[in-house]
Amino acid sequence: MASWETFLILSAILVLLLSNGVFSYGQNSQKEVLSLKKLEWQLSTTKTSSSSFQKSRTKNGVTVLEMRHKDYYSGVILDRNQRLKKHLQSDIIRVQSIQDRIKSLISGPVEAKSQTQIPITSGLNLHTLNYVVPATLGGRNMTVIVDTGSDLTWVQCQPCRICYNQPEPLFDPKLSSSYQAIPCKSQACQSLQFATGNSGLCGGDASVCNYEVSYGDGSYTRGELGSERLLLGTIPVENFVFGCGRNNKGLFGGASGLMGLGRSDLSLISQTSDKFDGIFSYCLPTTDMGSSGSLILGGDSSSSYKNSTPFSYTKMVLNPQLATFYFLNVTGISVGGVSTQASSFGKSGILIDSGTVISRLPPSIYKAVKDEFLKQFSGYPPAPSFSILDTCFNLSTYDEVEVPTIKMQFEGDAELVVDVSGTVYIAKTDASQVCLALASLTFEDEVGIIGNFQQRNTRVIYDTKMSKLGFASETCSFS
Ligand SMILES: *[C@@H]1O[C@H](CO)[C@@H](O)[C@H](O)[C@H]1NC(C)=O
Ligand SMILES: *[C@@H]1O[C@H](CO)[C@@H](O)[C@H](O)[C@H]1NC(C)=O
Ligand SMILES: *[C@@H]1O[C@H](CO)[C@@H](O)[C@H](O)[C@H]1NC(C)=O
Repeated sequence: MASWETFLILSAILVLLLSNGVFSYGQNSQKEVLSLKKLEWQLSTTKTSSSSFQKSRTKNGVTVLEMRHKDYYSGVILDRNQRLKKHLQSDIIRVQSIQDRIKSLISGPVEAKSQTQIPITSGLNLHTLNYVVPATLGGRNMTVIVDTGSDLTWVQCQPCRICYNQPEPLFDPKLSSSYQAIPCKSQACQSLQFATGNSGLCGGDASVCNYEVSYGDGSYTRGELGSERLLLGTIPVENFVFGCGRNNKGLFGGASGLMGLGRSDLSLISQTSDKFDGIFSYCLPTTDMGSSGSLILGGDSSSSYKNSTPFSYTKMVLNPQLATFYFLNVTGISVGGVSTQASSFGKSGILIDSGTVISRLPPSIYKAVKDEFLKQFSGYPPAPSFSILDTCFNLSTYDEVEVPTIKMQFEGDAELVVDVSGTVYIAKTDASQVCLALASLTFEDEVGIIGNFQQRNTRVIYDTKMSKLGFASETCSFS
């Protein structure tokens, strides 16, 4: 080939690369700068913000609830490094419980009563990387944990036999004229079996339907099913069915209860489908001081999304045996623009969950991603593993580093561009232990999970009626 031809081809390639932004630091770049100085400063501020009631607003039928990280709600200050270890310990328990539940659902009804639901947090831990939103039930302001991996919404209730500490007053059905107990013979009581794995229990009193949700790790809530007026932003939901929890164990970080956003009839999304069309979305903020995100109920009729890239959609994979979960078909993962190769892509569904922290990948996929990451993020001194995270570096002498961008591809050309804040896990505040924030499953046939860490600064929209899910980059904020 003549040298001028080579020159022309090389110039053309260079122009292409430049126009694709490979050499820029914009939204499309294959690397993102992680500033370690800034992180250290932010993370060393261990004071928690006020636990004042979070904000909400309603516009054109869409309700926007301020979403915060639970650490900033509970108001308890733990040593940060200690807290991180605990976050990951409870994450291990949650993932084990999801795997057990899926196995028992697929292999038919087995005796696994204590493992029929997903823990939102380990009973041992006060803190998890979970998210809370405000809601008003029977006129009472409540702060509840958001969970797309379970269905029944519940709050701690008076008179309470066993309740954990919460800063907000307990919900008292006696003080509310809109509260009604749900009778045993009702459709809602029948739905409990599918929604929670435990059927409704009828005692001597046929006007009461008792529920139980067990969370695998020993945490549980028990009480009676009731209906009440729920206010989401300014949108009222009459006769909302929820659990009035009289016996609740497990430290739910001081939240008054939990909002179930799963797919069954009893979930908040199903119960409000006439108002919000079965559509909700969230933007999960980082744990930095003062950061907040939003849970939006309803579609985008009033430009409530602040996404900086267009939405890309993938269809939800339907599995009749696991119909309360949200499953997607992951077809590839690229690291710094390089596609990784693994036999498991496109084989089985991957679960997307707001309650799991670190994404779990089948071993073949994890290995491919890790190898490519190590190839590109080279020259940094290694550091020991941190809990389930086995790819760690000592970056204490660096002010900033360039981290290869990880992108997950889904059936239908949808793409989740993992934000840099969700790519690495800063295990030590002095940056002497910074880890790739992904973990491997033990076995190839276990179910992969996209955790909340990898969903940070992304608008994730769930359209349950159209059975599709979309991703777009967004810097989370409530205002
Ligand atoms: C509940 O919160 C809203 C919004 O912050 C506030 O306006 C209202 O006064 C609160 N209600 C009660 C009963 O505390
Ligand atoms: C995932 O998508 C790929 C590509 O469209 C397809 O070949 C494969 O069958 C799908 N897998 C599942 C489990 O739906
Ligand atoms: C990290 O690297 C620094 C600088 O080389 C060193 O002083 C320190 O001991 C290392 N820390 C760990 C935990 O390995």
